[in-house]
Amino acid sequence: MKVVSELAPARAELEKLARPLGFVPTMGALHAGHLRLVEAARETCKSVAVSLFVNPMQFGPQEDFERYPRDVESDSEKLAQAGIDLLFAPETAAIYPPDFTTFVDVGKLGTRFEGAARPTHFRGVATVVAKLLNIVRPDVLFVGQKDAQQTAVLTKLVEDLNFTTRVEIVETVREPDGLALSSRNAYLSGEERAAAPTLHAALQTMLKEIRAGKTVEEAREAAAAVLSPRARLEYLNLVDARTFSRLQTLRAPAFLIGAARFGRTRLLDNLWIWK
Ligand code: PAJ
Repeated sequence: MKVVSELAPARAELEKLARPLGFVPTMGALHAGHLRLVEAARETCKSVAVSLFVNPMQFGPQEDFERYPRDVESDSEKLAQAGIDLLFAPETAAIYPPDFTTFVDVGKLGTRFEGAARPTHFRGVATVVAKLLNIVRPDVLFVGQKDAQQTAVLTKLVEDLNFTTRVEIVETVREPDGLALSSRNAYLSGEERAAAPTLHAALQTMLKEIRAGKTVEEAREAAAAVLSPRARLEYLNLVDARTFSRLQTLRAPAFLIGAARFGRTRLLDNLWIWK
């Protein structure tokens, strides 16, 4: 595995890689969810590049950019073991030099749900991924279902700006009790960790009720009852998988999305309904 942090050497190394080239962008603090994306890339591509960059632009001023978990050494060990070809781990100044002024805005899709809770988040995600796609020039971009709205934003970005990469969505990896793996799970106290899987349970209840013919509102009520009293629910909704506009009846592809706070930690989860 080659490790590069500067743009020109990264381009030179990337040129040498066999095609198709799969690309997995990450912010590090790698867990089995990230490694599943790497595995999926290895299954279908001849070479695999991973980026590790905690992107300041996708964090709001009151968010956890400073305390976001960072462990580059253990991350590169995991990636070397996973058998990737290139790790691109740039410094902030290489991605955002002082005179940087161009942003990518995905419009309405980026203002709903997570975009409403975090107004500049998707602009930050779209901007950094556009840059990374131009640097890496992959054939396939691998993204996790875990961040459902991000999959829609990146699919739209690739279509609207004519990137030639294909977007592949990889299913969420979970703990045995249903909690979706996330770097932010590390922030949970023991009691919060014990309550956290109820978000997944609530989504499953909601889907079961909708499939049984209940309205979205009725199903949401049943789901909220499953959620731990420790959780502060932000939303539970059925949305179109591409536009993230609300659906009143099940029409695949769709996501059933949920967000809730456990203490100070905000967790997201979703069920992907593709048929
Ligand atoms: P990060 O949170 O590090 O996630 C990197 C990728 O791993 C994303 O595509 C995410 O959806 C996926 N992922 C996270 N948890 C997962 C799980 N439990 N199962 C499967 N996949 C999972 O998402 C980002 O970084 C950033 O926004 C990024 C796209 C890198 C742009 O900065």
